[in-house]
Amino acid sequence: MTGTPDLLAEDLHGAARDPALGAIGFLNEVMSRYPEAISFAPGAPHPEFMRDIDTRALTDRFVDHLVAERGFTPDAAQRALYEYGPAQGLINDLVAEALGTDQGIRADPREIVITVGAQEALLLALRSLYPRSGGDDLFAIADPCYAGITGAARLLDIPVVPLREGESGLDLDHLAARCREAREQGRRIRACYVAPDFSNPGGARMPLAARHALLDLAEREDLLLVEDNAYGFTAPEDDGLPCLKALDRHRRVVHVGTFAKVGFPGARVGYAVADQRVQNGAEQRTLAEELAVLKTMTTVNTPPLAQAVIGGLLLEHGRSLTALGRPKAQRYRRNLDHLLEALDKHLGDDLPPGITVQRPAGGFFVRIDLPVPADLALLEVSAAEHGVLWTPMSQFSLTDRCDRQLRLSCSYLDPDQIEQGVKRLAAFLREEAVA
Ligand SMILES: Cc1ncc(COP(=O)(O)O)c(C=O)c1O
Repeated sequence: MTGTPDLLAEDLHGAARDPALGAIGFLNEVMSRYPEAISFAPGAPHPEFMRDIDTRALTDRFVDHLVAERGFTPDAAQRALYEYGPAQGLINDLVAEALGTDQGIRADPREIVITVGAQEALLLALRSLYPRSGGDDLFAIADPCYAGITGAARLLDIPVVPLREGESGLDLDHLAARCREAREQGRRIRACYVAPDFSNPGGARMPLAARHALLDLAEREDLLLVEDNAYGFTAPEDDGLPCLKALDRHRRVVHVGTFAKVGFPGARVGYAVADQRVQNGAEQRTLAEELAVLKTMTTVNTPPLAQAVIGGLLLEHGRSLTALGRPKAQRYRRNLDHLLEALDKHLGDDLPPGITVQRPAGGFFVRIDLPVPADLALLEVSAAEHGVLWTPMSQFSLTDRCDRQLRLSCSYLDPDQIEQGVKRLAAFLREEAVA
């Protein structure tokens, strides 16, 4: 576009020019230039789950539920789909029931707010916990980290503290040290974002002892934990690792969930469990209720039609998130196994020097460490010469810690594409990833 500008970018919010966005734009542009390349880049749900969603039958099911169990007249139940709805949500009772049955989270519907995806839940939680943009309160995140949370912090001008993350999740000693440092500077870490069950992009999973230690640390240091559970559903069922919120005895955890993976992402339905008590003059309310008030100033309410479809899906699956997510979890676990087996087969015995492959037990992502920078120039070579795409891990990082790492996602591909893609990737790594 050319001509006389009306506005200058430097007068607008800088989040729109974040360097990470430039990298995402480049990645999309490379994908469009090499349509034949096999792409391990998208972390999107598999397309097979977007077929055969009968939205009419699902909303009918939800309307019946409103009439049978929530005391709506048939007319009011129908209208509830099309009118503005309660800011806090329409399906809180179903979500509360499912979280209780499946994840051991005991939450009252008043302690839940239904949001436009997990993204809005994260944004509202940050807005509420960090009332002053650019203030003294810091937000701790893993490095590398999901771009949705760094983006939300950037949009709200909240200063971020990157923490090391290993195979067992956040480095708790690092977190404790950063809390101390902040205190010495007259500041504090107010909250910490954590994805204990298969972080994106790191693929880390926290053992039970580390979960307890993190909760103890939060209590000692007076911080809140913002738990993102987007990938927990891919864990083997009943493997004995409860999410942080199920272990939270002191209301330290704001638990954020999404229906993007267990349902479908276009619904844009997520939720926050925020049972913290907020004193407001003589009155107390839950943090979820507080977030719902903020929501009236952003999206007003989560579209009732979308909530009704998700409510219908929960009702169809015995009011269980586990049952709803089961076929997807099976597909993603199979895909991850295929990916790891193909990496063993094609790279396995004579792994080129300086290359290591991480072996996560779930989630969508596998990290590979290289002896050379995994940058956009190398990605271009990978696409042009070898027909395979991946994501530079540096895109998710605020430091240079991840400059020599790439991320493979297994969610969007079929097993034969995974096999073919890894063959190409192995040839690429042997030829190009040489120090
Ligand atoms: C870590 C993480 N959290 C949340 C989400 C989903 O967010 P939403 O519900 O806004 O689509 C994703 C999706 O990629 C994710 O990777």
